[in-house]
Amino acid sequence: MVIATDSAPVNNPQAEGIIYVQGVPTTETRLTLAGTLSVSPMAIGTWAWGDATWNYKPEMFDDIAKTWDALQDESSGINFFDTAEIYGKGESENIIGRLLKKSKEEGKTVQPVIATKFLPWPWKLSYPGCLLSALKGSMDRLGVDIVDLYQIHGPIHIRSIEVVADALAEAVKQGLVRTVGVSNYSAEQTVRMHAALAKHGIQLASNQVEFSLIRRYPETSGLIAKCHELGVAVLAYSPLGQGRLSGKYSAENPPSAKRRFSNYPMKELTPLLAVMEKISKEHDKPMTAVALNYVMCKGTIPLGGARNPEQARQNAQALGWRLTEQEIEELEKVALVGDKGTFWQHG
Ligand SMILES: NC(=O)c1ccc[n+]([C@@H]2O[C@H](COP(=O)([O-])OP(=O)(O)OC[C@H]3O[C@@H](n4cnc5c(N)ncnc54)[C@H](OP(=O)(O)O)[C@@H]3O)[C@@H](O)[C@H]2O)c1
Repeated sequence: MVIATDSAPVNNPQAEGIIYVQGVPTTETRLTLAGTLSVSPMAIGTWAWGDATWNYKPEMFDDIAKTWDALQDESSGINFFDTAEIYGKGESENIIGRLLKKSKEEGKTVQPVIATKFLPWPWKLSYPGCLLSALKGSMDRLGVDIVDLYQIHGPIHIRSIEVVADALAEAVKQGLVRTVGVSNYSAEQTVRMHAALAKHGIQLASNQVEFSLIRRYPETSGLIAKCHELGVAVLAYSPLGQGRLSGKYSAENPPSAKRRFSNYPMKELTPLLAVMEKISKEHDKPMTAVALNYVMCKGTIPLGGARNPEQARQNAQALGWRLTEQEIEELEKVALVGDKGTFWQHG
């Protein structure tokens, strides 16, 4: 059974809609962001598609195309993809553009929902122009006439939240984006952006923050609860701890140091990985499915990265079941909370 919340504040009718799953997330579940965007309860993060941080090489495109095809199969239930203008300096968007074109030519029925992001470098001062020209660049690379969800990548802009909100509103008014979101915003910044957009009659759709079993901070700080109160969906990035929660890395075989989010020495994760492994065996699900199911149980939409069809299929097994309250308690005894950062991660 899927129980949904309708947390629309009375003064903001556009917040109406289901923004998180409280029951069992399934392949049929759809959540409604900003009262309009229908998305699956989990998404695919595409930072690794085209980016040097993840050692992308053009010969990896075939694997990515197969991953995309596996997800276009309606039975996967996943229709939501997250990218950014900065990923691979536009290459992630280019790759998605190629794949969207391919799906169209093949007559695929699944309509992917694409979220991308504007990087508000501190030296960008000329709003709305800088945001609108970056948005048009993203649209060209993606090959779309309208972006489904356009997000501010991080709270690093020198211009005020209100100036950035006006620029996002201009993008909505020009019909270039369907919904707008933020990322790495604190609760206070989210409240301010939500209020600034509400003056234009626009509901803030989402705040994307690092949330996982090795960074519970958005829950413990009250950010997730505040977002839900405002009708803002929370998108959980690096929900697999950048691969650290997959079970394939260890103290002897750590992931690349380039994976800088929650970059704990692997030996500090040993107790958590042991509990995850036990739960994964009991449910007969991969460890990544346990990690993703956990963040869905907490009312967020995971953006797990997948680099090949096998990873996508394993991760899709996070749907169709739910961790018990007792298992969640067990996991939280050994999970890590983490903290905010001064530059990038305010939330
Ligand atoms: N807004 C922001 O500031 C921000 C920051 C970071 C990420 N994000 C978004 O969030 C998305 C996800 O975060 P992320 O990519 O940092 O980390 P993640 O989702 O926690 O980890 C993804 C990586 O884990 C490994 N993996 C995935 N499934 C696996 C499986 N079934 N078995 C074994 N290994 C598996 C893969 O890397 P290997 O196979 O190479 O190990 C994959 O690239 C990004 O793509 C991006 O869209 C946003």
